[in-house]
Amino acid sequence: MLSEKSRPVIEATLPLVGSRIGAITPKFYSRLFAAHPELLDGLFSRSNQRSGNQQQALAGSIAAFASHLVSNPGTLPEAVLSRIAHKHASLGITEPQYQVVYEHLFAAIAEDLAEVITPEIAEAWTEVYWLMADALIKIEKGLYASQANDRMWMPWRVAAKTAAGTGAMTFTLEPADDTPATPALPGQYISVKVVLPEGLRQVRQYSLSADAGTSRTFTTKLDDGGEVSPVLHHNVQVGDILEISNPYGEITLKDGDGPIVLASAGSGCTPTASILRSLAETGTDRQVLVLHAESTLDSWALRSQMTDDVERLDGADLQLWLEKPEAGAREGFMSLREVDLLADASLYLCGPLPFMKNIRSEAINAGIPATRIHYEVFGPDIWLAS
Ligand SMILES: Cc1cc2nc3c(=O)[nH]c(=O)nc-3n(C[C@H](O)[C@H](O)[C@H](O)COP(=O)(O)OP(=O)(O)OC[C@H]3O[C@@H](n4cnc5c(N)ncnc54)[C@H](O)[C@@H]3O)c2cc1C
Ligand code: HEM
Repeated sequence: MLSEKSRPVIEATLPLVGSRIGAITPKFYSRLFAAHPELLDGLFSRSNQRSGNQQQALAGSIAAFASHLVSNPGTLPEAVLSRIAHKHASLGITEPQYQVVYEHLFAAIAEDLAEVITPEIAEAWTEVYWLMADALIKIEKGLYASQANDRMWMPWRVAAKTAAGTGAMTFTLEPADDTPATPALPGQYISVKVVLPEGLRQVRQYSLSADAGTSRTFTTKLDDGGEVSPVLHHNVQVGDILEISNPYGEITLKDGDGPIVLASAGSGCTPTASILRSLAETGTDRQVLVLHAESTLDSWALRSQMTDDVERLDGADLQLWLEKPEAGAREGFMSLREVDLLADASLYLCGPLPFMKNIRSEAINAGIPATRIHYEVFGPDIWLAS
């Protein structure tokens, strides 16, 4: 809980820090990587640094956390913390690293706000930092402790690599050693570490796209301008070893007996397909509505898996939107206004940000409460930041 002493200081300086945080985070990362260049080799995404998305996500999370503390001093923003902690745990972030981040972040704050910062302001924001850091450390410790092993990276062999529509590949992995595998929940992801041709290691997250449990299957869309997906598509072959993390991610199928709407666009169908698979495997009697948007039928990566799983369930229905007209599909972008939404539905969303923003607001207009809308962002969560 934020102290009585710091609360008015944070309240008074939030507009200033909020307006400067976007300039502070790039300074922070420059300082961090100058002092610890090793953090760019197998931990931070070089592309998210170049695009500025990680800076934006960090800035947004700090601003959101501080605003929450000011308006709800007795509670913590669980959803914000949970998403970050799962991402951190999938990368093996450790407690001592929080001190390193603190030093460089506060040096960047002192530099940026040199003309206005006082010891009182620095002290209050230090308190905010450690409230956030301690909350994250606690969740991350719990996540590490709930794994079936104490390893960060494990070797898994590529047992199959198959084209999944035009432009995507599905990788099915098998364990390459006897480390016990943590059972994954449908909707979760793994981190995958690869070595780029130049020798630098890079990590990306991939949602499990088929069975969860102790299987590890993921489907990746080729991003020609990217660093990791081209290596997976062009260089990694059947029989090769990939280093992967334990499964993480908080967007998982919640218990209950109400209807479920799974809405996805493009490669965003991977976590929803895994949730659908688990519903088909258990033969759920919940009503399931699968909504998917794609550019063309051929580019739908998990088409046969998803249509087969819908067929297996009496209470499931599938609706498709394609940019190019095709029999059996609506033309254009998905809109919930064209759908009879199930009463009391829970909505699971994954796809590009503009798609998710639009579907989420349509769902809220249709009466689905925000607490029953769950979304996965394929990158740093800059939605939160905005
Ligand atoms: C929880 C989670 C689950 C995910 N699940 C999946 C999944 O199931 N399937 C899937 O395909 N993907 C998934 N992703 C996305 C995946 O992790 C990668 O982001 C994706 O494969 C692209 O990685 P890459 O290394 O090929 O591209 P990156 O190297 O990360 O580059 C991404 C894009 O950034 C652009 N870029 C680089 N530098 C700049 C710059 N200076 N300015 C602007 N843009 C720039 C590149 O051109 C490229 O288009 C998931 C992500 C998350 C966080
Ligand atoms: C209170 C302190 C911290 C905050 C508020 C914070 C916040 C965040 C946020 C918001 C994200 C993006 C999550 C998402 O995907 O949406 C993130 C990712 C990440 N964080 Fe932290 N973080 C903190 C501490 C740390 C520490 C100590 C480290 C270790 C050096 C670290 C390393 C990373 C890495 C490697 C990523 C992924 C970046 C990428 O791949 O682009 N963070 N963090």
